[in-house]
Amino acid sequence: MNQFTSVHDAGNINALVEKALMYKANPLKDKTLGAGKRIGLLFLNPSLRTRLSTQVAAGNLGMDAIVFNVDKEGWALEFEEGAIMSGSTVEHIKDAAPVLGNYFDILCIRTFPSLKNRDDDYSELYITQFIKYCGVPVISLESATLHPLQSLTDVITIKEVISRQPPAIRRPKIVLTWAPHVKPLPQCVANSFAQWINAWGEADFVITHPQDYELKEAFTKGATITHNQDEALKDADFVYVKNWSTYNDYGKIYENDPEWMLTEDKLKLTNNAKVMHCLPVRRNVELSDEVLDSANSIVTQQAANRVWAAQAVISEILKSNK
Ligand code: CP
Repeated sequence: MNQFTSVHDAGNINALVEKALMYKANPLKDKTLGAGKRIGLLFLNPSLRTRLSTQVAAGNLGMDAIVFNVDKEGWALEFEEGAIMSGSTVEHIKDAAPVLGNYFDILCIRTFPSLKNRDDDYSELYITQFIKYCGVPVISLESATLHPLQSLTDVITIKEVISRQPPAIRRPKIVLTWAPHVKPLPQCVANSFAQWINAWGEADFVITHPQDYELKEAFTKGATITHNQDEALKDADFVYVKNWSTYNDYGKIYENDPEWMLTEDKLKLTNNAKVMHCLPVRRNVELSDEVLDSANSIVTQQAANRVWAAQAVISEILKSNK
């Protein structure tokens, strides 16, 4: 593995999940694999889980991890080729990225979309420019359209739950449901979850959202899509709750009907489903207290598994670049 920016870099998903679960069982198994190597974690946006889980994972592999909050502490970066830099940007990515590539053996980058211009966001200009100019393997810590470490974690968590249940559930029904929110959010987590569940191929996958919240078809193709949330939830084994803004009329909130919030009453439609969310979550907006605090919620287990997803990916990259 030379980079990790989408499911297309994952290779065999089940093998990567097994590797992550192996690290969960034995975190320090490869504690010298990354000895003498450094990983840079560059944040152009806030984070709790991604930042800390990746640091822990790198430490488990013997690497030094350095976090750089580019948005707050770095020079304002320019990403456009040929830009005349007479405005607010101070340093071109062409100049900054190769320097970072000299300091680090692996670079990890979080860069959210603007939600202003769909073509710009979906071109993935920022992470693509880092990859082009830094000269070392790049791991996405969430880019403009995808969040692959989160999605790998999600598959790990689903497989972990399934493995602890009676063998009857071997092809689970997984529902991704839109939820209300107070502000427009990126489509990254939903795009990425859809991409990974479709690629994994071991579930009946349903996506439900209000009208006009269609995600990009390249990510959802293969899933059943319905605007009827109750119908979607019927007999679900896993319900993944997430808000996203509109894709077609880009970056808008069209409706925020609180009826879309997942409640205990709605959970009764499911097969006692496990409830997932990538966090952070707006309580009693996206998900009710009663659901989040119930035994159905596996959001903490899910967030904890972020370490093992990151460790499996870093390990694969270290082994490929020995
Ligand atoms: N799920 C997730 O990426 O969390 P953070 O934004 O806190 O990193």
